[in-house]
Formats: sequence, structure tokens, C-alpha cells
Amino acid sequence: MLTRPFVQISNGLKWMKDPCSLLDLMAARHGLAFRLDLPILGNCLITGDPDLLAAIKNHPNLEAGKGIRALRRILGDGSLITLDGEAHATRREIIAKHFRADQSQAVDALTVDVMRSLYEDLPDGDFSAYSLFHEASLLVILRFLFEDLTLKELEDLRSDTLLFLSAFSSAVVLFVRPLQIDHILFPWGRALNHRRNLEKSILKFSRRQNRASQIFAEMEEAGSTNETACAEILTLLMFGHDTAAAAMSWTTSLLACHPEVLEKTREDAAIRKRKQSSVQQISSLQSASLYSAEDFVHGSILESLRLRPVVIHLSRVAQERIELGEYALLPGEFVLPCQYVAHRNENIFKDATSFLPQRWIPDIAKQEETKLTSAFFPFGFTDRLCPGMPFALRQMQIQLQTVLEYSWAAKKDPEPRRQMVLVVPESGGTLVKLK
Ligand code: HEM
Repeated sequence: MLTRPFVQISNGLKWMKDPCSLLDLMAARHGLAFRLDLPILGNCLITGDPDLLAAIKNHPNLEAGKGIRALRRILGDGSLITLDGEAHATRREIIAKHFRADQSQAVDALTVDVMRSLYEDLPDGDFSAYSLFHEASLLVILRFLFEDLTLKELEDLRSDTLLFLSAFSSAVVLFVRPLQIDHILFPWGRALNHRRNLEKSILKFSRRQNRASQIFAEMEEAGSTNETACAEILTLLMFGHDTAAAAMSWTTSLLACHPEVLEKTREDAAIRKRKQSSVQQISSLQSASLYSAEDFVHGSILESLRLRPVVIHLSRVAQERIELGEYALLPGEFVLPCQYVAHRNENIFKDATSFLPQRWIPDIAKQEETKLTSAFFPFGFTDRLCPGMPFALRQMQIQLQTVLEYSWAAKKDPEPRRQMVLVVPESGGTLVKLK
């Protein structure tokens, strides 16, 4: 009989290295809901069961902000993702309106230009899809938040952001407290040092006339300090590019591994481009839905978010003893609503492990939206639904449409790998640039 610490450590190592294989194994043994004993999180309930998910969504005694333990240590206690209750609702109102689709279109043309120029600058041969989309998405979110910066200032802010992010090459430092030593000789100390530099730049540039300064002013009016506003902008910078870049590296890797789907998507992208140039705007993206797609460009993105969600689970903590179906959670226990497991539910998604963008196109596959809301949640749900979703979906469609102007192919079908709190294709998804 193995002791509990041994089981926890063994599960923890698998969870850090290859969470998808561990989830596949547990789901094959136990179905859509099971307990998994993990370091830090404890014996948590993991679920992709639509009925349990529906019960979790509006449960008054489950909190989300308190569940964000690892990120809290770098983002502090005052940013949207770590707040709960009224403070969360007030902050959300300030942040979400800045990322609506009508606001996001301010960077449509820039996104096309950035994608084309980065792709054309790639040398012939292999390239990492993640690196390409990471570079594009970071430039775009920086411009979106700080539209008035000179090129030199933008470059400085970009390198401060990259230095900060580079401190987390391994996720271990995020989760293992004893490694969090605030000294320049240790990775954690270097991360905090880079964060302080980045905060200084954010503060300086937020005194100008840009979207970040608007967010600062709105937060100040709602009673936040400069320090909290700075942490919020830092959070938006981090989440505003890395998640979408990871998702795009999956979309392009999956397309490249399915040449016939890639061809159909390329045709649809060309039709889109013709329609858009005739109305002089990318208007069809205004209503990008999460539950049905108008063509293969949108369908491929939804299907990749389903099959390879980059955020594989959410975190909720019980505030008192609660019952969820046959499970009881004690105060302080975690439940992890799990996209990875939910999105592979064969009862909802026939042939769930295959990449089938056509399942999202209403004329071809008629799915019930109500059924899907508790089965498909790449951006989370209810009052914690990702406020960046309209921005991300719009960006992904424009980036995909632009990169489809060029020819590329798959090197191999990539395995999923953890990168910080995200799951990305191994080596970032290697693609080959074709003439
Ligand atoms: C493909 C891209 C993205 C994915 C897959 C994604 C996914 C998620 C998920 C799963 C959550 C957690 C929801 C929950 O706990 O229920 C979340 C929250 C959040 N996301 Fe995103 N996100 C993406 C892009 C973005 C972008 C572009 C931004 C900002 C510009 C952003 C900002 C945030 C913030 C601030 C939160 C915290 C919301 C809250 O706690 O109320 N995300 N996102």
C-alpha cells in the first residue's frame, strides 16, 4: 500500500510533465468525474461531466479567485483573476468592455501587417508555430493597450515583458513554495526583479493617452491604487497574448496534420478575404460565436479549442461543505472543471478524439447550443468567462486567415506539453515553410 505523500508526489510529477496523459488514463478508468490526489491542490474532484458542470457553474459556495494559488504569487491579490464577489464584479465591468469585438477591431489591420511581415521574415525550412504567433500576439496586445508608444518605446516594453516571461521557463517555480526565494541568484528572485522593471515601464506609459491609461483612470475612480492597476495591466499583457498564441499553434499544427481540411480552410479563407475587401471591413467577425461557425476558418479554431484546449481546467474552492452529485466537498477542497475531459465526451462529441471542424458548421452538424454550454468551455464560464474571449476569437480568425495566404506543412503530429499553466504542442508545434 503506497503512502499518501508518495501517491501525491507521483501524481504531481505526471501532472506537471504530461497532464493530458494522466487525464486520459483517469478518464478511461473512472469516466467523466474522479478524485485525483495532487500536491498543493489536495484530493481534488476533477470533472468533465455536463451535469456536475451545470451544478458547479452557479454554485453560491464555490469561489474561483481563491482557487488561483500559483498565479496569485506573481500577480498579487488585486487583479481580476484573483478577486471574488463584489470586488470581482466591479473590476470585471471595467475590464471586459475594453475587449469587446467592436473595440478589438482597432488592431485588425495591424494584425494582418504584423502576421505577414513576421511570416515573410521566417527563414526557409522548419519554424515553431508557437514562437511565430507569440511574437505576433505580443506586439498586437502591446499596441492595443499602448497605442501611442513610439517604436523604440514599444520595443523596450516588449523586451521588459519577454524578460519577465523568460523567468518562468519551468512551471515548477510557480508551484513549489520553497523555490520562491527573492534573490537575484534564484529564478524566482529574477522573476520578481523583472516584474518590478516591467511595472515601472507600465506606470510610465500609463500616464499617456492610451487604453492602459483609461483602465488606470477607471480603476482609480473605483478606488484602486496605482499598484493594483499596474498588476491588472500586467495580467492583461500576460493573458492577452500567450493563451491565443498557444491556441493558434494547436490550430495550425492540427490543420497541417490534416491536409484535406487545411485545403478546405484555405479556400474558405480566400472567400472571406474577397467578401471583406468588398465591404472594406472585417465585419463578419463581430458576431464570432463559440457554439457554431460560419466556415472552416472559424470551425477549425473552435475544433482546435475543443480537442486541444490550452487551459485544461478551471479551479473552484468550496467555501463550506457542499454536495455535487454523488460527491461531497469539504470546506477548502478543490473541484477542477476540466475542459480536457469534458471536450472528449463521446455522448456530446461523436468521434471525440478526431479533428473535425465541420462539426461546428450549423448547416453540416446541428448541435444544440444549450447542451454545449456545459460541455464546451475553452474560455471558462458564467461570471468568470474570459473577458478577453471576443478579442481572442477575433485575433485568431485574422491571424489564421492571414497565415493561410502562405504554404506550410506539418513536420509531425505533436504531443501536448505543459508550459506554465498552459498546454502547448511539443516544441511549439514545428511547421515547415514551403515555397
Ligand atoms: C485563446 C485565448 C484564450 C483562452 C483559451 C482563455 C481562457 C481563459 C480561461 C479558461 C479563463 C478562466 C475562466 C474561469 O475561471 O472560469 C480565463 C480568464 C481570464 N482571461 Fe482569458 N483566455 C484567452 C485569451 C485572453 C485574452 C486575449 C485576455 C485579455 C486580453 C484574457 C484575459 C483573461 C482574464 C483577465 C481572465 C480572468 C477573468 C475572471 O477571473 O473574471 N484572456 N481565460
